[in-house]
Amino acid sequence: MLEHDDLDLPNYSSWDGATHGPEPVPDWVVTEFRAIDTELGLLKTGKEADVHLVHRAVPDGLGTLLAAKRYRPAERRMFHRDAAYQEGRRVRRSRESRAMTRRTEFGRELLAGQWAAAEFGALSALWQAGAPVPYPVQLSGLELMLEFIGDPDGTAAPRLAQCRPSLAEASDLFDQSRDAMRVLARAGYAHGDLSAYNMLVHKGRLVLIDLPQVVDLVANPQGQEFLHRDCVNVCRWFTARGLATAEYEHLFGDLMAEAVGAW
Ligand SMILES: Nc1ncnc2c1ncn2[C@@H]1O[C@H](COP(=O)(O)OP(=O)(O)O)[C@@H](O)[C@H]1O
Ligand SMILES: [Mg+2]
Repeated sequence: MLEHDDLDLPNYSSWDGATHGPEPVPDWVVTEFRAIDTELGLLKTGKEADVHLVHRAVPDGLGTLLAAKRYRPAERRMFHRDAAYQEGRRVRRSRESRAMTRRTEFGRELLAGQWAAAEFGALSALWQAGAPVPYPVQLSGLELMLEFIGDPDGTAAPRLAQCRPSLAEASDLFDQSRDAMRVLARAGYAHGDLSAYNMLVHKGRLVLIDLPQVVDLVANPQGQEFLHRDCVNVCRWFTARGLATAEYEHLFGDLMAEAVGAW
């Protein structure tokens, strides 16, 4: 039998058949069916997902870089927190919820797919609300394709945790963090796992990433606790960089007022 590789078929873009990101689709998104996806390698391997760099282009045409985040149906990962994060969300099909509880192979696939879909949904809603998040290009199964945050040569933007900003730069990045968290709060969300590890800095611009566990401030009874923890994590990092104004109780109060004002 012929192996897939022997057929030497080009790897056509997976855009057709995927769930597409929110309108208006930015004009840099390559939507031609004859476009080719080329794998450029692994950007980062994580606990529950790996992030790969993909180039999508029409032959002889200009293309675009994408970050492909692929969830793994792994045995052990953050999903021990499932219960707390999933409160306020519903899983309708009882066969599926039982499979997820028992952590069968089928259940683990479903859970991973659910987290991919949750992240795609959160990114779509927040991108539309004007939050600084990567544009979610498409979702298919366990794979999300996102706007690549980085340089055209494929160098990914560093995480905030890797940056050593001056005091003036730190002050500006803290303002951007607060503004981003305000957009989320106004839309009724807390990030739920926010820290200097889930913020990228590209040419001075702060971008929030890693949102599968986004928390609904209204529906989730622990929503405010998650928001509070996000505030503590963010402020602690900026305080350690010498920023005296990064005060977490103040930020938390500010965001709660923002959230309540929107209800
Ligand atoms: N859109 C993106 N552009 C560039 N790099 C990204 C992008 N999304 C993720 N990454 C890189 O991959 C890493 C892991 O992604 P993340 O969404 O935080 O997953 P997890 O922490 O759950 O493994 C990030 O810290 C970042 O270095
Ligand atoms: Mg992360």
